[in-house]
Amino acid sequence: MIALGSDHAGYCLKERIKDLLKLWKYECQDYGTDSEESVDYPQFGSLVAEAVAKGECEKGILICGTGIGMSIAANKISGIRAALCYNVETAKAAREHNDANIIVLGARTMEHSLVDEMVRVFLITEALEGRHARRVGMITKLETQKV
Ligand code: RB5
Repeated sequence: MIALGSDHAGYCLKERIKDLLKLWKYECQDYGTDSEESVDYPQFGSLVAEAVAKGECEKGILICGTGIGMSIAANKISGIRAALCYNVETAKAAREHNDANIIVLGARTMEHSLVDEMVRVFLITEALEGRHARRVGMITKLETQKV
């Protein structure tokens, strides 16, 4: 199950990606928003992040205007590695190097013609073992580090 979410700025792109996921036979859960009416991105970012963190969804896709707010919000949830990607190479590296479980897109700032391939690559690419897994483990430890 793939979790999808956006604010108003990402709504149209979310709808396009939802159609694409259905075409590719992925099951998806849409956490909103459901129009271009102004909403607050942390609300939708946290819904998707929590669904992924709880294991209810295997991966997530979040979209806002720049992708920045959604990234910041989603990464506050323990167990989430949300990666703001801007081309196919970063979508692939986010999985291989960072074991990212959410891809974040900026609807107002990125090239929309790249989105289909970025999402496809993100969903099919496996995380790499070895030094990459060790570094991801270090990130996980940071979640419980006292400051
Ligand atoms: C909404 O105007 C905009 O601030 C939001 O979509 C996002 O870009 C925040 O990071």
